[in-house]
Amino acid sequence: MNKLRLAVFSSHSGSNFQSIIDAIKEGKLFAEIVCLITNNSNAYCVERAKQNDIRYYHISNSTHPDLSEYEQAILDVLSENNADLIVLAGYMKMIPSIIIREYRNRILNIHPALLPKFGGKGMYGMNVHKAVVESGEKVSGATVHIVDEIYDNGRILNQMLVEVSPQDTPESLAEKVLAIEHQLYPLTIQLIAEGKIMLDN
Ligand code: GRF
Repeated sequence: MNKLRLAVFSSHSGSNFQSIIDAIKEGKLFAEIVCLITNNSNAYCVERAKQNDIRYYHISNSTHPDLSEYEQAILDVLSENNADLIVLAGYMKMIPSIIIREYRNRILNIHPALLPKFGGKGMYGMNVHKAVVESGEKVSGATVHIVDEIYDNGRILNQMLVEVSPQDTPESLAEKVLAIEHQLYPLTIQLIAEGKIMLDN
C-alpha cells in the first residue's frame, strides 16, 4: 500500500498540522506530508514545517497579485509534490474553484462545530463558539468534511462530540473542541488511507 501524500494548507498556528505530523511519527497515520502551503509567511505553521523538514511554500496575493498566476502557483506545487489529498488546517482563504475542480472530493477541511449547524460564511474561529454558547446547545464538536464551492457545505466524513456545560464560555469551548480536532483529523485521514471512508461517492 502506498502512503497517502498530503498537502497541508494552514494560515496561523497550525496545531492541527502538528497533530498530523505527530500521528505520522507515532505510526498512527500511514501518510506523508509532502508540503505545507501558507498564505502567511509569519505564521507559526511555517516554524512547524521547518522543525520537521517539511517543504513549505508561501503563496498569497502578495506573492502572486494576478489571480490566475496565484491559482497556477498552487496547482504547480500540488502537482510537483504529487499530492493525493489537500488537507485544510486553519486555512483562512477560499480555495479557488479551479483547484476544487482539479481535486474534486480530495480536499478536506476541519470545522470547529457539528456541521451542518454553525457553518457558512463568517462562521470561523471564535464566532463559531460564541454562536454555539449563545444558542444553548448541549453538545458541540468538530467535523471533517469535503470541500466544495460553498463554505462548509461538502459531504461530512466524520465528527466527534464534546459536551457544552452551562459554565462554558466561547474560549473554554474553543479549547475543548481544538483538543478533539487533534484526534479527529489524523484519525479520519487514516480511515481514508485504509479505505474505510471512501471519498468518491
Ligand atoms: C481550528 O479550530 C479549525 O477547526 C479551524 O481553524 C482552526 C485552526 O487551528 N478550521 P490550528 O491553526 O490548526 O491551530
